[in-house]
Amino acid sequence: MSLNNIEEIATFIVADGKGILAADESNPTCGKRFDSIGVDSTEENRRDYREMLFRSKGMKGNIGGVILFDETIRQSAADGTSLRDVILGQSSLPGIKVDKGLQPIEGCPGETVTVGLDGLDGRLKEYASMGAKFTKWRAVINIGEGIPSDKCIDENMQALAEYAKCAQDNGMVPIVEPEVLMDGNHSIDECYEATDRSLKSLFVHLEKNGVNIKGTILKPNMVTSGKDCSEQAGVDEVAKRTLDCLMSNVPAELPGITFLSGGQPDVRATAHLDAMNKIGGFPWKLSFSYGRALQAPALKAWEGKPENISTAQDELSHRAEMNKLASLGEWEEKFEVR
Ligand code: 13P
Repeated sequence: MSLNNIEEIATFIVADGKGILAADESNPTCGKRFDSIGVDSTEENRRDYREMLFRSKGMKGNIGGVILFDETIRQSAADGTSLRDVILGQSSLPGIKVDKGLQPIEGCPGETVTVGLDGLDGRLKEYASMGAKFTKWRAVINIGEGIPSDKCIDENMQALAEYAKCAQDNGMVPIVEPEVLMDGNHSIDECYEATDRSLKSLFVHLEKNGVNIKGTILKPNMVTSGKDCSEQAGVDEVAKRTLDCLMSNVPAELPGITFLSGGQPDVRATAHLDAMNKIGGFPWKLSFSYGRALQAPALKAWEGKPENISTAQDELSHRAEMNKLASLGEWEEKFEVR
């Protein structure tokens, strides 16, 4: 792998249907995931779990990059190999989440801004020296009564742009993630509107801040009905509305769009991605950067037990393969039957 600049790195990550494994859960979030299988969230258990994922056969050829949490990029596998080198050994690139989470916005009830610009340049320099090739920053947009506000969108997109510029200045690809949450009973139209406003603002700020779009990856939500909406949009409608929204807002020179799964059931997230790629006609690679939708079956199979490692790895490999097929528009529901 000889990748000489951010444009080549971004292109490599999403080449040939590959996508991203999001494994950057903070320790509290990892704790919640482990609670669901009755495993203690200790540093060693988190290491064992992630080592198990990263050594899965299906990483190779299907996963072009792995997003890590600060703790993980510093950890080594049980045999002493750094987890970063385990990932590189799968022909995949290590990346790192660099934001510092959410803070309430004064005067905007129910809304948050993502923080972490203080000291960012220093942190990025350290991560680059540790071998990180790309980075991630997640902004969160909530739909509700009278929200998202313009102020919330503007502050979050400005921070995303400043982060992205700083990542590129340090030789790493920024993944910009403006996540419109699925939480709530809103309609797919309301999700379209909030996503449209967020993406419009994001690309204005990226341009103003001098971010190189060819060395950037966008990680958006899909345009869906809210989780608690009584009328759930079907696969074809989600695919069509999501593509419409992206076509109206995303410059053609962006190399890749990698969706978050946002709490969608795992096979449904695959079906949505596949439906979009079957429609086709867009200039970017359209792929995945799933956390839960890649990991959930593996987590469940693992249960924290060494004897389950191989079965759990098969589960991760399967989802990685299915999502690669979906990125190529070649997935079929019958492939899920094993
Ligand atoms: P999910 O796919 O579980 O939403 O996670 C992706 C992610 O990285 C959220 O920041």
